[in-house]
Amino acid sequence: MTATTTHPPAHPDPVVELTGVAKEYPGGVAALRGVDLTVTAGELLAIVGPSGSGKSTLLHIVGTLDRPTAGGVRIAGYDIAALSDRALSALRSRHVGFVFQSFHLVPGISARANVAEGLLYSGLPRAERLRLAARALDRVGLGDRMDHRPHELSGGQKQRVAIARAVAGAPDLLLADEPTGALDTASGESVMELLRELNRDGATIAVITHDQEIAASLPRQVRIRDGEVVADVRGRAEGAS
Ligand SMILES: Nc1ncnc2c1ncn2[C@@H]1O[C@H](COP(=O)(O)OP(=O)(O)OP(=O)(O)O)[C@@H](O)[C@H]1O
Ligand SMILES: [Mg+2]
Repeated sequence: MTATTTHPPAHPDPVVELTGVAKEYPGGVAALRGVDLTVTAGELLAIVGPSGSGKSTLLHIVGTLDRPTAGGVRIAGYDIAALSDRALSALRSRHVGFVFQSFHLVPGISARANVAEGLLYSGLPRAERLRLAARALDRVGLGDRMDHRPHELSGGQKQRVAIARAVAGAPDLLLADEPTGALDTASGESVMELLRELNRDGATIAVITHDQEIAASLPRQVRIRDGEVVADVRGRAEGAS
């Protein structure tokens, strides 16, 4: 308690800082309308809202896959408006990990090769990528499935591989879009438990969901409706709606 050397800086840069973010798609759909959102290191939050409310759009902007029409986006301290597309993809590969509802694994190659794929742009030699991939698969409980190809894995196991791929490079931010959407209840719960464990180990994680129960089980809920943040609640909202 008296140690002073391991304390983080008093005011670390937020991992995510959105100010007045708007996104208008061609054709005039205002998918986001003035979103302010700050996420600090070590948080685990749900972004929850009905279908079409703008959740995936928000994830794409936070993940630097897309740029806003208006407003400011800082990720890991970098102002993305100041970065070229090329610099932005470098930032993304270094700082952000993605998990999607449909896993997005490469068919026909092993779980280990899939995870190593996530480190392709790390600049690490292949042997080191494979070593980190094995470690990440161990971390998600798939140490005995390294050589299985995606079609030889259950849905829950595929999602664990996808999570291993997303965290193998120790990103500052893990973004998961409906990570349990394609899973049965038990596999979904175990994937959520894995995300909680990774968060306890220090990962900063945003989970997009339309599932109120999943959202309520996380320490912070950001509610979005019609492209606007309508509530931002910390603490488990048990019994609340
Ligand atoms: N590429 C696009 N071009 C035009 N409109 C889009 C595009 N992507 C999304 N939209 C529109 O923007 C709005 C927000 O979409 P978004 O995908 O962010 O919703 P969502 O909250 O993720 O919904 P869901 O829960 O169904 O995944 C919707 O009205 C949608 O039709
Ligand atoms: Mg969506």
